[in-house]
Amino acid sequence: MDDPVETANALSSIVGAAHVLTDADQRAGYETDWTGRYCGRCSAVVRPATTAEVVAVLRYCNDHAVTVVPQAGNTGLVGASVPRAAGHRASIVLSMRRLDTISDIDASSMQVTTGAGVTIADWQRAASAGGIDTPIDFAARDSATVGGAIATNAGGSRVVRFGTMRQQVVGVEAVLADGTVVGSLAGLPKETVGLHWPSLLAGSEGTLAVITAARLRLVPRFEYVTTMLAAMDSVEAARETLALVRSELGSLDSIEMMFPEAMELVSVHLGTGAPVDVPAGGVALLIECADHADPTAGLHAVFDTIDGAVATAVATGGPRRQQLLAFRDRITEAIAAAATASGTPTYKLDVAVPVAAIEGVVDLARRVARRQQARLIPFGHLAEGNLHLNFLGATNPDEIADTVLPVVASLGGTISAEHGVGVAKTTWMHLVRSTGDLAAQQSIKRALDPNGILNPGVLDPSMGRVDDDQVP
Ligand code: MLT
Ligand code: ZN
Repeated sequence: MDDPVETANALSSIVGAAHVLTDADQRAGYETDWTGRYCGRCSAVVRPATTAEVVAVLRYCNDHAVTVVPQAGNTGLVGASVPRAAGHRASIVLSMRRLDTISDIDASSMQVTTGAGVTIADWQRAASAGGIDTPIDFAARDSATVGGAIATNAGGSRVVRFGTMRQQVVGVEAVLADGTVVGSLAGLPKETVGLHWPSLLAGSEGTLAVITAARLRLVPRFEYVTTMLAAMDSVEAARETLALVRSELGSLDSIEMMFPEAMELVSVHLGTGAPVDVPAGGVALLIECADHADPTAGLHAVFDTIDGAVATAVATGGPRRQQLLAFRDRITEAIAAAATASGTPTYKLDVAVPVAAIEGVVDLARRVARRQQARLIPFGHLAEGNLHLNFLGATNPDEIADTVLPVVASLGGTISAEHGVGVAKTTWMHLVRSTGDLAAQQSIKRALDPNGILNPGVLDPSMGRVDDDQVP
C-alpha cells in the first residue's frame, strides 16, 4: 500500500495540487453521507476535470493498491459514496463534480451528452433551454448528478411514464480500474454489437468502472401540467385510482403516495396546514398529468368516478402548484431535519412490492416501529410499489431489516427499488438474488477490477453487517 503523502503528491501531479484535498476540514464534507449515517476517512479527495485525468488517477491507484470511492453529488442514501469505516484499505474519494460539461441539445435525436458531474437540475435546465425536457426528476435534483443517477439506477417521480435512469442512457463513457476507457457516446438508438455498457454499469454503484460521461435521452416538454393532491380514504382506493388513471390518462406523469405520518411531518416542517386532510388508514396521492392540451378536465372526469377520494386540491401552475408539490418534494428534507433535531440518523428502507401488498408492508413497518418506539414516515412512488420506509429514532435497525425485508422478498418484491444496495443492504442481497446470481456478479467484478480498488464493500454480499456507527 502506498504512503498517503506519496499518493497525494503523485495525484497532485495529475489533477493539480489545488484539486487534491488532504486537510481534515476540506475532506469532511466528502467523508460523511447525506443522512449522516455512513462515514469513514479517506487520505485525500481527488477532483479530476477530464476523462484523461480520471484515467491517470485510476492507473496510479490500481498500481499502488489505493482504493477509490467515486462520488459526485453525495446524495446517496446507502453509504456507497463515502469511504468505508475504519479497518478498510486506505482510500481516496474521487470527486466527479468537475466533469460538468453539457453538449448542445440534438433535437433530431432528442439526446444530449453530459459529464458525469452534471447535476440533474442542470440537465433539466439544458433540456428546457432547448424547448424539451428530461425523463427523470427527483427531489435531490440540485445536487445529485448524472453519473450518480446512472450508478444507482435512480428512479424518481416520472418512472411511471418514462422508466428509470437505466432506460435514459443511450451511451456511456467509463474508465475501468486499470485506466481503460470503455463505452461510446455515439448515441445510436439501434446498435447490437455484443455487450451494452450502459446496461452493465447502470446500478453497479461505482464497483465496475467510473462513469465519466453519458449520452442521455430527452423527452417532449408539455405545455400543460395539472397537479392534484388527493386524500384517499384507503390504500385500496389509491390502488383503484392508479389502475384508472393509468388506463384512462395517457398524460399521467407521476403518481406519488404520502401516508398520513408523512403528511403530518411535512406540514409541520413547512409550517402550513395540509391542503387536504388524509384520514387514518388512508393515503394522499400527488398526481401530475402533463400534455400538449390541458389535461385538467380528463383528470377530474376520472376522479368523478372514484368513490374513495375524500378531498382534492388542484393547481395548473404558479405558487399553488409549488405548494402542492412541496408536500411531496420536501419530505426527505423534513425527515432529515427531524433526525438532526433528535440526534439519531434516520434508518431508511427503500423497498418495492406488488402494489396490492403495499398496505400490508406499511402495517408491518408500523408494528416494528412501535416495538422500537421509533417514528415511521412512509411515502413513495405508487405505480412501482416503491415504499420509502423511514424510521426516526430506531434503536435496532438490523431488527427492522430482518423483519421487513424477508416479507418483502416473499411477496415477490425487492430490498432496494432505487437507492441501491451500497454497504447498507449487502446482508440482505441473498433474499432477492440466487447464489448463482451473486457468484456471477462477483466474477464480473473480479474480471473488471482484479485488484478490487473500486468502491470495495459496496454490493459485496460477503461484507457482513455494517455497524450503524461508522465513525472511525
Ligand atoms: C424520494 O423519493 O424522495 C427519494 O427516493 C429520497 C428518499 O427516499 O428519501
Ligand atoms: Zn424515491
